[in-house]
Amino acid sequence: MLLTLPDILDANDLQQARRLLADAPWTGGKASAGTQAAQVKNNQQLPYECEASQAIGAMVLRGLERSALFLSAALPRKIFTPRINRYAGAANHYGNHVDSAIRSLADGQRVRTDLSCTVFLSEPAAYDGGELTITGTGGEQRIKLPAGHAVLYPGTSVHQVQAVTRGERLACFFWVESLVRSEEQRRLLFEMDMALMQLRQAHGESAATTALTGSYHNLLRMWADT
Ligand code: NI
Repeated sequence: MLLTLPDILDANDLQQARRLLADAPWTGGKASAGTQAAQVKNNQQLPYECEASQAIGAMVLRGLERSALFLSAALPRKIFTPRINRYAGAANHYGNHVDSAIRSLADGQRVRTDLSCTVFLSEPAAYDGGELTITGTGGEQRIKLPAGHAVLYPGTSVHQVQAVTRGERLACFFWVESLVRSEEQRRLLFEMDMALMQLRQAHGESAATTALTGSYHNLLRMWADT
């Protein structure tokens, strides 16, 4: 399932993020990639401990906490420290790859990458190319969203970032380990949660919505690992 999460960052956040990134200490992106991915990766990243990276990461985490859509779709257990990357000039693309299954946090904790997320920091009109291209059972999807919006997609998918041929593409990305490991179960829970929300909006609370909410939580209890 591919899901757009609107307005993870607002206009103020974006302005602050771009100011922080204007003179940030960019480095080559290969260092953080696995062996296969390093062969096709050609972009720039920020060291995660630098000021810009920390400040923007914190901003993104606050945005995620406000997003009912993110919480319902991802059912997050752990979130990998958000990273920032740049595609521009000669370092402008990232060929087809699958992200490593397990990432380690600075404190040694491991995060299983059930879901990947990209938050777009540049407006689409500021660059050409740079679409996040995700290959799934339904074919290829090319994604380029307004600044502040994010896309959430399965960590299992083969994906790439197309070459940026004009301007620069700034983004924040991270992975999520979900309370519910199975994508199929996670999707059912998300669909049920969204349908319940619509039922409540249309008809208010009823015995049926209470019973269905109970079923939602009982399925979550059956499938979640905390
Ligand atoms: Ni990737």
